[in-house]
Parts: sequence; C-alpha cells; structure tokens
Amino acid sequence: MRLAGKTALITGAARGIGLELARAYIAEGAKVALADINGAAAEAAAASLGPQAIAVQMDITRQDSIDAGFAGVLDRFGHLDILVNNAALFTAAPIAEITRTDYERLFAVNVAGTLFCMQAAARHMIARGKGGKIINMASQAGRRGEALVAVYCATKAAVISLTQSAGLNLIAHGINVNAIGPGVVDGEHWDGVDAFFAKYEGKEPGQKKREVGAAVPFGRMGTAADLTGMAIFLATPEADYIVAQCFGVDGGNWMA
Ligand SMILES: NC(=O)c1ccc[n+]([C@@H]2O[C@H](COP(=O)([O-])OP(=O)(O)OC[C@H]3O[C@@H](n4cnc5c(N)ncnc54)[C@H](O)[C@@H]3O)[C@@H](O)[C@H]2O)c1
Repeated sequence: MRLAGKTALITGAARGIGLELARAYIAEGAKVALADINGAAAEAAAASLGPQAIAVQMDITRQDSIDAGFAGVLDRFGHLDILVNNAALFTAAPIAEITRTDYERLFAVNVAGTLFCMQAAARHMIARGKGGKIINMASQAGRRGEALVAVYCATKAAVISLTQSAGLNLIAHGINVNAIGPGVVDGEHWDGVDAFFAKYEGKEPGQKKREVGAAVPFGRMGTAADLTGMAIFLATPEADYIVAQCFGVDGGNWMA
C-alpha cells in the first residue's frame, strides 16, 4: 500500500482516466475525492469505488466552484496530499474554422482550470507545511502541433509549461509538480476525437482509432490502466527528487 494514509483530489474523475486513477489510488490505500463538473456522474463513480471515495461537484472554470470544492474536500479529509489535474476538453478544426468560443472554452478548462486548482492545492499544502504532490495530465499533443488540433495542442503545451514553472516555484515547499503525457487512450474521450476525424478527414466511424492504435510502436492504443503506474509513482516519496518534468506514457508514440 504505497499511498496508505494519503488523500487525493482528482479532477475530471467521473469517467475515463481520472476514474481509473481514483481506483488505483484507493487500491494503494488512499482516500480520493472525485471532482467533476458532472456531479451526478461523480457521485455514481464514487459509489462504485466504495467508502474511500467521495464525490465533489466542481467546475474548474469557476473560482467560486474551485474554492468551495477544495474547502469541502478539506472538511471531509482534514488535509490534502495529492492533486491530479486531469479534467480537460478536446476540440478539433482546421485553422480557418476555429471559433473563439471553442478556443476560450478549452483554455478555461485545460489551462486556467489546471493553474487555479494547482494554486488552491498549493495554498493548503504550503500552509500545512508537509509538502505534497501535484500531477498534471498533459498529452503528447503538448509536445507537437497537429494540423487539425491547434487549440488542444496549445492548451497541453501550456500545461507542460505551467508544470515547469509551478514545479520550480513549489519545490521550495516540498511540493513536487510533474506531468504525465499520455498518447492515445481508448475511452469516451477518444470516441469524440474519432468523430472529429470522421468529420474532417472523411473517415468511417472507428477508422481513426484503428489507425492511431496500429501506429503506436507498442502495437495498440493505451488504456487508462496503462497510466496508473506512473500516476502512483509520482505520488509516492520515491518521486521526491523529480521536479517539473513531463513523462510520456504513450507506448513509444513520442520522443520527448
Ligand atoms: N484519452 C486520451 O487519448 C488522452 C490522451 C492524452 C491526454 N489525455 C488527457 O487525459 C485527461 C483525461 O482524459 P480522458 O480521456 O479521461 O477524458 P474524458 O473526456 O473521458 O474525461 C474528462 C472529464 O473531465 C470532466 N470535465 C470537463 N470539464 C470540466 C470542468 N470544467 N470542471 C470539472 N470537470 C470537467 C468531464 O465531465 C469528464 O468526466 C485529460 O486531461 C486529457 O486531455 C487524454
């Protein structure tokens, strides 16, 4: 039990990668708050994980919602050791068709949401004086451009940059900030991505998924479970000397 006695808050944990990370943290002995804009889905997800999980309705684009969400979790758990900034939105469009609404929506969740959740966790961890672990979910998309994915790629590049600056700032307080860069992870998120490519590249539904899976050097798309090992490791004292890094967990898709 590598996380016994630890508490964690995971954003966007009602489904997909966040939910799988919550399951893995609980299996390692942690208590986990599953925070999501979809409160009902977060409740159902927490109920499926048992008494070590709690649900928090939180919209990370709103400061009042972040403040209330963190306060509620601290009230329930007493302290917070680990934050995983996992919630994000995806969109795709050629440059000529990107809308300002989509741009602002993605930056509000993926970038501002990540920053101000880091800030909320850091304020608590600094005041408590016992350090902590912050793990940001970046992406291989943050390491490169993609012709149809300019906005999402830019948000994930920003997440990597925020991880570097926050990592350098917060290590003075014993708070490790690092990121994980997944590649292509099957699930509801990628069902949406597949639909965008069907629209813009004229592909059959499911075709883009098959193509990206076949192109992964490991030989298949990732699963949320493929990410749990790194997410657990970064939350343990074994990662104390790791600061401001982004680790690709992508089956060999991208060389950082
Ligand atoms: N799936 C992939 O292939 C892949 C690849 C690289 C990186 N990632 C990253 O991993 C993370 C998780 O991805 P996923 O596939 O599980 O995505 P997902 O779409 O399945 O889950 C995202 C969750 O975030 C929640 N959310 C959205 N807006 C929110 C808001 N304003 N406040 C709080 N919660 C909000 C959603 O309700 C949802 O439950 C994301 O950061 C994503 O960018 C995913």
